[in-house]
Amino acid sequence: MSQAWKKSAIAMVAAGALVGSLAACSTERDAGSESTEGAGTVEETLVGIAMPTKSLERWNRDGAHLEELLGEAGFETSLQYADNKVDQQITQLENMINQGADILVIASIDGTALAPTLEQAAEAGITVIAYDRLINDTPNVDYYATFDNYGVGTMQGEFIAETLDLAGGAGPFNLEPFAGSPDDNNAKFFFAGAWDVLSEYVDSGQLVVPSGKAPASNDDWQSIGVQGWSSDTAQSEMENRLNSFYAGGTKVDVVLSPNDSLALGIAQALEGNGYAPGPDYPVLTGQDADQANVLNMIAGKQSMSVWKDTRTLGDQVATMIQQIVDGETVEVNDEETYDNGVKVVPTYLLPPQVITPENVDVLTESGFYAAEDLGL
Ligand code: BGC
Repeated sequence: MSQAWKKSAIAMVAAGALVGSLAACSTERDAGSESTEGAGTVEETLVGIAMPTKSLERWNRDGAHLEELLGEAGFETSLQYADNKVDQQITQLENMINQGADILVIASIDGTALAPTLEQAAEAGITVIAYDRLINDTPNVDYYATFDNYGVGTMQGEFIAETLDLAGGAGPFNLEPFAGSPDDNNAKFFFAGAWDVLSEYVDSGQLVVPSGKAPASNDDWQSIGVQGWSSDTAQSEMENRLNSFYAGGTKVDVVLSPNDSLALGIAQALEGNGYAPGPDYPVLTGQDADQANVLNMIAGKQSMSVWKDTRTLGDQVATMIQQIVDGETVEVNDEETYDNGVKVVPTYLLPPQVITPENVDVLTESGFYAAEDLGL
């Protein structure tokens, strides 16, 4: 039995006082305040961390960093990955609740599937922080920490507009747009940010979408969503579009990819179709600055990525947790944007940053990667 679970067993027996104090926090939060009454000492606090999958680079980094940070501060932690399976994540959360977690940090797989589980968490007086992805349709999410998701999409759209000189009237260019997983609340923000920049150029005819897969409006983004952010699905979708709509020498000039896992598959499809790095290679966007994608950027197979220094997200969540435990006001900087269908969730937004082949050294100078990771 680990220290955490021993502590939890004791906590479950003697839960009255702790649950009482956490329940008081919930009541206070329900009344619209962000201050808490404290959850006990750091050593008494078990933080459950639920991450979606190990298959994507970023979540491994996110989980490891948060676990290390909280461990160094003296918290007990339980870090679980759910293989992108909603049921598995729900079981993991139920286990954390039963084992006496005081705080849950959740990067959800399906943002609309956790309401019943979070009702159990609320009954147990647990404070819930949505990590990176908002959890929808429940009152039982207390805080949200993320990057400016709409801003990520804006950066992708503006990069395309500037690279192609759309404001200067250039075009027409052939564009293929993609969106993220339909069950991920972030994906709609990424798409809206990009499409709010690009749609005027689709309307003006400077951007043409030969496949016809251009959503009629931002709300229709799921029609081009790639379930589970799968690289393989993105690859086969791009292959289908190239085979069906680009026969006879038509070239694709630009692909809006919402993140790096899709961009990897899209780059594979381009390569398989004869596109080689050089002036005619399409503009291809991404997000996360995953190692494989930074290597692709250096090799001329991806034009940009939006880097979200996930260490800063972990730092911010650790700060929130410390503030909760100390009974201090939890610092947020956005109390308007993230309506989960039941309430506006108090949010801390962090700034993303554009990375191109020209400034990859930002990643090494900040220690996010070692130079040898990038072959530099
Ligand atoms: C995250 C992205 C990530 C994507 C796929 C999104 O919710 O914000 O950083 O690329 O999920 O895991």
